[in-house]
Amino acid sequence: LPALLRASQARFNNTFTAFLAQQSQLDARLIDAIGYAMQNGGKRVRPALAWGASLAVGGDWAMADSSALAVECIHGYSLAHDDLPCMDDDDLRRGQPTCHRQFDEATALLAGDALQALAFRALSGSKLPSATQAAQTATLASAAFDMVVGQQLDLAAEGQHLERQPLEEVHRHKTGALIRSAVALGALAAQATPEQLAALDRYADRLGLAFQVHDDVLDVIGDTAVLGKQAGADQLHDKSTYPALLGLETAQALAQQLTEEALAALAPLGVNANPLRELARFLLARDH
Ligand code: IPE
Ligand code: IPE
Ligand code: MG
Ligand code: MG
Ligand code: MG
Repeated sequence: LPALLRASQARFNNTFTAFLAQQSQLDARLIDAIGYAMQNGGKRVRPALAWGASLAVGGDWAMADSSALAVECIHGYSLAHDDLPCMDDDDLRRGQPTCHRQFDEATALLAGDALQALAFRALSGSKLPSATQAAQTATLASAAFDMVVGQQLDLAAEGQHLERQPLEEVHRHKTGALIRSAVALGALAAQATPEQLAALDRYADRLGLAFQVHDDVLDVIGDTAVLGKQAGADQLHDKSTYPALLGLETAQALAQQLTEEALAALAPLGVNANPLRELARFLLARDH
């Protein structure tokens, strides 16, 4: 595991536990479901990207805590809803029953709703300058909206066998947008220059697409026990995916090419971006 990811997992789990304890505990079942949706076992890729972006531009970990928290709350919400019977209808997530299987559909729905609100509460509760908070809020709101657009496009594409361009639109929206926002939030927290922001955004753009292409690949070649989610689920739902469109090898080659482009984009940032480089290489080789 890359050092950035290992450190991010520990830091995220502590930060989130403390943050959740600050929220109203009036309904224990809801709090339990929120905690369950955000449970350990998540790779914490988006928090690592937020913290890694801060480090890449000379910032520190603490200034990007709210960024990491916020983007992972949106991610957790998106997964709780993605697994619902009305969407991908999955029973397994991170090796455990999905949130609606462990609790019930209404509770999983509400846990997701709550997490979306908590994401913005995390941003507004930081000690960053208000202009930074405003920029972060606008960035995350756009990304969260784009994710929802992508999810709608993904569902509409079931059984449609999309061509390359529209499929790229689905993937850039449902997954790429949030990954780009993770990097942008961390960079904004560290007061990155416009040039640094542009380089990081190029990195995140390529990485975000590569991430979902590889997720599609894993659905084909992965093992349910290792993936922690049901392998072959995309084929079952006749999803439009990169392996379905291009074949497995070409999809894998595309993920590799996009990762190389992501790495090339980091050139202006020097050695401070090494953790982000290591993360990109790891994500291309991940087995879950
Ligand atoms: C899974 O995301 C859903 C996608 C957007 C592809 P991750 O692979 O980051 O899931 P966790 O958080 O590690 O479980
Ligand atoms: C997930 O895409 C995208 C979002 C949750 C926004 P998938 O439906 O491919 O994710 P998995 O494979 O269920 O994790
Ligand atoms: Mg889905
Ligand atoms: Mg799914
Ligand atoms: Mg998938």
